[in-house]
Amino acid sequence: MATTYILSFLALTVANVVAAEQQVLPNVLGNGVVNRLESSDVPRVLALANRHDLDVWHASDSNVDIYLPPGGPSLPDELKKLTRTSWIVPAAQPEPLVRVSTEWNVSTVVNSTFHDNYHPIEEVKDFMKQLVAVYPSTTQLTNFGQTAEGRELLALTISSGVYNLQEVDEVEEEIVEEDFQGKKKKKTKHSRKKTRPPLRVTEKLGVVIIGAQHAREWIGSSTALYLAHTLSLHRNDSQSLSKLLDHFDFHFIPIPNPDGYDYTWKTDRYWYKNRQALGPHAKCLGLDMNRNWGYKWRSSVALAETSGNNSDIQSSETPNPCSQFYPGVRPFESSEVNDIANWITTLPNLAAFVELRSYGQMLSSPYSYSCKRLAKDAEDQIEAAIGASQALHSVHGTEFKVGSLCSTLYPAHGNMLDWMYKREGIKYSYVAHLRDTGTHGFTLPPKWIRPTGEETSRLVDYLSRFIAKQAKREF
Ligand SMILES: *[C@@H]1O[C@H](CO)[C@@H](O)[C@H](O)[C@H]1NC(C)=O
Ligand SMILES: *[C@@H]1O[C@H](CO)[C@@H](O)[C@H](O)[C@H]1NC(C)=O
Ligand SMILES: *[C@@H]1O[C@H](CO)[C@@H](O)[C@H](O)[C@H]1NC(C)=O
Ligand SMILES: *[C@@H]1O[C@H](CO)[C@@H](O)[C@H](O)[C@H]1NC(C)=O
Repeated sequence: MATTYILSFLALTVANVVAAEQQVLPNVLGNGVVNRLESSDVPRVLALANRHDLDVWHASDSNVDIYLPPGGPSLPDELKKLTRTSWIVPAAQPEPLVRVSTEWNVSTVVNSTFHDNYHPIEEVKDFMKQLVAVYPSTTQLTNFGQTAEGRELLALTISSGVYNLQEVDEVEEEIVEEDFQGKKKKKTKHSRKKTRPPLRVTEKLGVVIIGAQHAREWIGSSTALYLAHTLSLHRNDSQSLSKLLDHFDFHFIPIPNPDGYDYTWKTDRYWYKNRQALGPHAKCLGLDMNRNWGYKWRSSVALAETSGNNSDIQSSETPNPCSQFYPGVRPFESSEVNDIANWITTLPNLAAFVELRSYGQMLSSPYSYSCKRLAKDAEDQIEAAIGASQALHSVHGTEFKVGSLCSTLYPAHGNMLDWMYKREGIKYSYVAHLRDTGTHGFTLPPKWIRPTGEETSRLVDYLSRFIAKQAKREF
């Protein structure tokens, strides 16, 4: 079938109107085109996209969304041939973001205007400070590290008791690095605190919730803030989840990639990586934080699965620093990933981990690096995930797919999910790809922030209660 590809370039829109009481923030979008390739051969499309270092936005078992930025290459012929149908989803026109006030009255969720919009990084910090001011007995803001560009990394802990940071043994973790073919193996020593003791029944269980590592996935960060808010509320509030604090401490990192997040507000709405300089002569900057974790980083298994069964398609030997998926030259090269990992190891009694991402509506369990390896806890993980996705569905009817991250998306090495599960031993580790399934993609309209928060809080509630029940704790 003949297919036509049209690249439409939207005019760069920069809002520069400043009214008396309003500040209109510049909101520059990365313009381009999303080609939604419907293909019976998704693994082959993915392998080719990978070889050409294309920006894959989403993949399911029936289609692949590929973004072609302006000025970049057009769709390679090999990919055009594999396409049955395609259509163009133009990048959304930016809506000027109006900042009316930075006081959001955090005493309720329903009447707090904070959740009606996305917010630049400074406002997110203000919001977290206001939460801590209004709920000082249960909330705590921690500055635990620094980004490549020198911004602070902030975590928000919600806990009804005083949690004690555990003493951890500092050991050298040995990381096996393999080249693409898995031929050469060189070992590097990486200093890391590790060896987590088994869960203690007498203490509260810890839950870690992380927002968007990929800068453009704004709804992940907004939803993390929504959840932190519902957990902080007084119990008499109908939206409150604070009963969960009887058995759990929650640790949020709403914006794990502050440099990238800021860049999506100021320069390119579709920026993905962090903003780390890669060296004086590097053509590009930034690495994919979610391919920079120290479990199965560039493992030959993952890299072989990335090319599917297509022996003719292989990625280049050396990863391209200009690729969205650039994993760095070593695990934990990203200063953000390194600081987050070190902070996580200090948290006691961790029972669950949820990474909030977009888009695709899926709740995924380990593994990410391989579709062939089954996690030993897969049965329990999937059982909890099915219940949690049904709980989410009951709120607004949103359908979530459930499965391993590799099977629901595609194989990806050095992923945070696998690290949390295997290295930190957090049994109930998940990635939730929030709304939608591609209609708006990363530019999910602000009016969906609140419904997404409402349904995701049911997911977290279900998951927590499931884990509490397994640990024989009652609410
Ligand atoms: C915040 O909202 C609550 C509940 O709607 C209300 O009782 C309170 O007066 C508001 N506080 C401020 C400072 O506006
Ligand atoms: C939210 O605001 C409305 C209108 O002011 C008010 O009627 C309602 O009681 C408020 N809800 C809460 C939970 O404070
Ligand atoms: C909930 O309880 C708090 C603390 O006792 C109180 O300040 C607040 O007014 C109550 N809110 C509602 C909606 O009853
Ligand atoms: C590779 O081929 C085998 C046998 O034909 C098949 O079972 C498997 O699903 C294929 N894997 C992928 C990723 O296509």
